[in-house]
Amino acid sequence: MKKIVLRNGVEMPAIIMGTSICDRKGSRKRLLNKMADVVSFAVQNGIVGFDTSRDYSNEANLGKVFGGLIRSGSIKREDIFITTKVGNGQQREKNMFQQIDISLKALKLDYIDLWLLHWPLPDYYIDNWKQVCDVYKSGKVRAIGIANTRERHIKEIEKITPDLLPHVVQIEYHPFRTVPAMRAICDEKKIQIEAYSANCVMLPFVRENDVLNRLADKYSKTITQIMMRWHIQQGTIPIFSSLNQKHILENIDVFDFTIEDDDMKLLFALNCDYKFHPESLNCPGY
Ligand SMILES: NC(=O)c1ccc[n+]([C@@H]2O[C@H](COP(=O)([O-])OP(=O)(O)OC[C@H]3O[C@@H](n4cnc5c(N)ncnc54)[C@H](OP(=O)(O)O)[C@@H]3O)[C@@H](O)[C@H]2O)c1
Repeated sequence: MKKIVLRNGVEMPAIIMGTSICDRKGSRKRLLNKMADVVSFAVQNGIVGFDTSRDYSNEANLGKVFGGLIRSGSIKREDIFITTKVGNGQQREKNMFQQIDISLKALKLDYIDLWLLHWPLPDYYIDNWKQVCDVYKSGKVRAIGIANTRERHIKEIEKITPDLLPHVVQIEYHPFRTVPAMRAICDEKKIQIEAYSANCVMLPFVRENDVLNRLADKYSKTITQIMMRWHIQQGTIPIFSSLNQKHILENIDVFDFTIEDDDMKLLFALNCDYKFHPESLNCPGY
């Protein structure tokens, strides 16, 4: 898998697979089996970056799966890149050193590759960010960041820790939401954008979009491959999720074609600031 080098020199896979979908429904045992199937299949097929969160309640399941893959020699710890996040409930406890230890134990890991605050929770995120920086300096995590930020949050963080800005911000970013002001400040400060809901959740309006379908025909690719390639060419790191093996393979098979500049512009022109995950629901007072 191609790598992107973060500001601190850490290499991050150019495509990440999300795991929130694995815990949607079903019994604990069935979920563990599903998780094992999906993650093992992904690893066997060259996916090495995975995204979770304390709020997905699946760190322990993931820990079992990765532990098994490492013990069986299918992968080495250093070859995979694991992201997890501190949820809002844990942010309210204001004890980031305890929170990282809980995640490390559940995931059965000695270190986390990327550790994020899940939301810039008002009244909490600044003080917690200072602690996240201390956890980073302790070596328990290789890179740090914050999800769901706007430019105002980056400016607030810069006032507090001007020498240690997030290495990564994880935000909803796809052709229908390109947040140009956020993009500009991240480019200026060398903050890597990681794009969640990279395929805009494949909602019906996305599947039916004329531009995406025309470009899919033109390049003999699917519309998800067009969106994934659009991310790769502009240097954002897409996170997709899928429980379907055909879709998983399709979403990483995007390194054998190039979208022409004029077509990239057509894709950027789809921006309508569409947001699938409203901040008001997930982060009171945002
Ligand atoms: N930081 C945050 O607040 C936050 C918020 C949301 C998400 N995330 C992260 O981002 C990850 C991905 O987000 P998401 O699930 O919202 O976005 P997504 O990947 O854009 O959408 C997932 C949906 O797309 C479908 N899909 C995937 N590949 C496809 C393909 N090739 N063809 C047709 N359908 C396809 C999947 O169905 P199938 O299973 O049928 O393929 C699933 O229904 C999450 O798992 C999580 O790790 C983070």
